[in-house]
Order: sequence, then C-alpha cells, then structure tokens
Amino acid sequence: MTDIYAPETQADLDILFQPYTLRGLEMRNRIVVSPMATYSAIDGFVTDWHVQHVGKLAAGGAGLVFVEQSSVNLQGRITHGCLGIWKDEHVAGLKRLTTLIRDLGAASAIQIAHSGRKGSSQRPWEGGGPLGDADIADRSEGPWESCAPSAKAFDSDWPTPTAMSLEAIEQVVEDYRAAFIRARDAGFDVCELHCAHGYLMHSFLSPLGNQRTDAYGGDRAGRMKLPLRIAGVMREVWPDHLPCFVRVSSVDGVGVGWQLEDTIAYSKELKALGIDMIDCSSGGFKLPAENNLVARTTGFQLPFSEAIREEAGLPTMGVGLIRTGEQAAIALQDGRADLIALGRELLWNPNWPMQIAAEHDEANGWKLMPPQYGWWLRRRKAQQGK
Ligand SMILES: Cc1cc2nc3c(=O)[nH]c(=O)nc-3n(C[C@H](O)[C@H](O)[C@H](O)COP(=O)(O)O)c2cc1C
Repeated sequence: MTDIYAPETQADLDILFQPYTLRGLEMRNRIVVSPMATYSAIDGFVTDWHVQHVGKLAAGGAGLVFVEQSSVNLQGRITHGCLGIWKDEHVAGLKRLTTLIRDLGAASAIQIAHSGRKGSSQRPWEGGGPLGDADIADRSEGPWESCAPSAKAFDSDWPTPTAMSLEAIEQVVEDYRAAFIRARDAGFDVCELHCAHGYLMHSFLSPLGNQRTDAYGGDRAGRMKLPLRIAGVMREVWPDHLPCFVRVSSVDGVGVGWQLEDTIAYSKELKALGIDMIDCSSGGFKLPAENNLVARTTGFQLPFSEAIREEAGLPTMGVGLIRTGEQAAIALQDGRADLIALGRELLWNPNWPMQIAAEHDEANGWKLMPPQYGWWLRRRKAQQGK
C-alpha cells in the first residue's frame, strides 16, 4: 500500500473530476460532501440555516451532497436540533433541499439515523454531554429516555438506556421503513443507512454495545441481524435505478470490539442485499486510551476503505482528514476508494471542488462554477494573469 504522503506519487487530478455512475445515477465528479449534522433544525424541520448550508456546498461543485443525519423517530434524535424524517410534514423542507442541490448540478443524499444510547445529548458546542437540568433552565431542552440493544450506558456519566424489547425492535424497523419512504418522496438520489459512530445500528453490530442473548445478539450473525434487516428494507423501498449506501465504523478501535474482518463480512452481506457503496468511517465508542485508534493523520481511514473494497468486492467511499486535491486524487488512483468524502475541509472552504477544478484545468475547470460566479472569476484571472 502506497503511503498517501509518498513524495514519489504523482497526483493526476483528472480522476477527481471524472463522472461516476452507480445504477442509473451519474455524479458529475467523485467529490462528496460527507454527512455533517448541524443541529439547527426546529422540531426536526429544515430551516433557512439548512438551505444556505446545503446550497453553498452544492454550489461549490461537489458531485454528491449529503444532507445531515436525519432521525427516524423522536427518541432517535441526538439533540433537540437534529433534522427529522419521522413525520410526513418533514418531507416538504427536505424536498426543498433536493431541488436546490439538483438545480446546482449535484446529486443529493440523505443519511437515515437513530442515535441509540447517544441520544438525549447537548449539541457539541453546548458541551456534548447528556441533557440535564441546566439545559431545561437555559434552553427548555429536557432529556428523554434513550434506547439501545442492551441496558449499558455510553459512558459512566451517561444515563442507562432501555434495552429494546422485540416489540420495540419491530417498531423501529417500521420507523426506518417510513423514513426511507419519506426520503424517496423528498427526491433524494442516494439513501444512506447510518451504521457508524456508536449510534443504534452500530451498537447492535458491536459486541461492545450488544450483549443480547436473543436472535438480535450473540455471535456476529445475530448482531448483524437487525442492521441487515433494515438495510434490506432500505433497498426494498429505494427505487431500483438509484443507489443505497451504508456508513460503517470499519473498526471500533485497536484490538477490541468490532474489527475490520467483521466489517468485511458485513459488507459482503450488504452487497448480497443490493447495497451499492460502503462509506468507511471508524470509532464511536468510549474506549480505554490503549484501544483508541492510531493517531489521526491524513487519510487515516483509507486503509479500511481499501481493504473493504478489495475483500468484500464492492465500491467504497473514503473519508477522514483529506484536505488537498492531490491527496484525494492519489487515494482514487491507488484504488483505496471510489468516491472521496470531505467534511471539515468543505466547511472551511465550500468552494474547494470548483477552486481546484479551475486551477487544475484552465480550459474546462471553470464549468464546475455556477456561471454567476465563473464568468467573472475567469475574466478576473485573465486580467491579473494568474
Ligand atoms: C460538523 C460535523 C458534523 C458531522 N455529522 C455527521 C453526521 O451527521 N453523520 C456522520 O456519519 N458523520 C458525521 N460527521 C463525520 C463526517 O461525516 C466525517 O466522517 C468526518 O468529519 C471526517 O472527515 P473530515 O476529516 O473530512 O472532516 C460530522 C463531522 C462534522 C465535522
């Protein structure tokens, strides 16, 4: 495996701007806006915040724009500000986002999520801990009871979730089904099931979260049963001509819990269900320091993506501390991933794709810019001669 930093590796930026097709969906390039929760919804509804946020990211030139994790039911929110897809009334606002993204030339994706035992939380900038009395006093945002495969708290200072009964499991499957239908009705091109970061689906998969002794726990096959069932529902609901993604935590950490071989086995099952792409993240549980993942360096999750792509035999999306066009292009060239997702770099500079395209390809790169910007900027560059 080539080190992403290897000085001898020459990046060919063309690969980043090649269209990419999955089923009947053509994306204009291989750059993806990673799902990023902004915790700015009101009662789950899209607000003006989301319109400007998603709009500037789509205008910036990415091929696929994710709308943030959206909760399948009230209990499955992370915070009071989570975007929702638990009622039909949410569809109109989401449709506004898909229309906007399409009009700006990108494909749209939504991540369907349930927080599990990490629900009932403060927003990151409010502390990110479990909601309590101070949150009621400050913002009238009280806690709610969370649920999980087993009655095991996320951390010592977090409340113990309710272990889900078989009835609760049946209900959550139906909540996911209704959410997938609403996502389809809102016009999204891609639907992603969130199975990462310690949230409900991940905590069913991992032995660190799942100590059940019934059919939904025990060995790996038992722990995969509910996520696979729900992935199957997603594929059943989602139109045949459009792709479905699953986001995984490729590993929980070093030497504990869910490991890469588990993700590969899970990905093979997902492939058999017709899932089109594995979005390869990692982590999400509180672990002792010695089990935490290696230092987070550029492209640190790409080796997971590469292994899953090769061994499970389906396309992958690579993500995590990728900051330059060269790094992204080399990851694609080296076969580490089929799509490259960026999160924080696009918060810093939403115009990252179109800026790199224009700098790289003098003749055609400008086409990625909306003409309202590109017409002027191209002329400014010619006037300044740089
Ligand atoms: C503000 C913010 C919100 C995020 N929200 C989500 C989310 O809703 N769902 C998810 O799977 N990951 C979420 N993530 C993780 C990102 O999708 C991405 O995997 C991570 O930031 C690593 O990529 P980066 O180094 O390019 O930022 C979030 C990250 C950030 C910075």
